[in-house]
Amino acid sequence: MDTNSYTSPMIKVMFVCLGNICRSPLAEAVFAKRVKDAGLTDKIVVASCGTAAYHIGEAPDPRTIAVAEKHRIPINHKGKQLKSEDFITYDYLLVMDDSNAQNAEKVKPEKASAQVFKIRDFDTEDEGSDVADPWFGDEDGFEVCYQTVERCTGEFLHFLVKKHNLTEA
Ligand code: 4NP
Repeated sequence: MDTNSYTSPMIKVMFVCLGNICRSPLAEAVFAKRVKDAGLTDKIVVASCGTAAYHIGEAPDPRTIAVAEKHRIPINHKGKQLKSEDFITYDYLLVMDDSNAQNAEKVKPEKASAQVFKIRDFDTEDEGSDVADPWFGDEDGFEVCYQTVERCTGEFLHFLVKKHNLTEA
């Protein structure tokens, strides 16, 4: 085998929330920027979806876009719903809260191969807790959400780099 022509498969990561207009598109955007800054776009693919069908095809909530822009994070997403196949296509599904995990479990196929984590399993504060849904509140909740996903995606990238022997730029 010509080892020089061997390319390892992409690591596929999907962030999952309920509506896919607040938390998961923000987590996707923040993590995608980290992946880009680390020079790992040829190794890691990033996506997001919601367990509900409420906002399929829609842009993120204006408050999600505003907080991303405030922190100079490019964001460009259209709402998607979690599908059974995502448990096979993706290597990692990172849900925002226990309710997302329960809803995701309902469409999980028998041959699922994805590892499912709560994103705050990677938090340095209140590890394992939920990312509060900011949809029902004001702008402050979106800033808290940003700070949370910022911390967690940093730790998650360290985890991937170590686990998959990746070299950062
Ligand atoms: P997300 O927030 O799950 O963080 O995107 C929500 C957005 C919309 C709704 C619920 C949560 N909704 O009921 O429409």
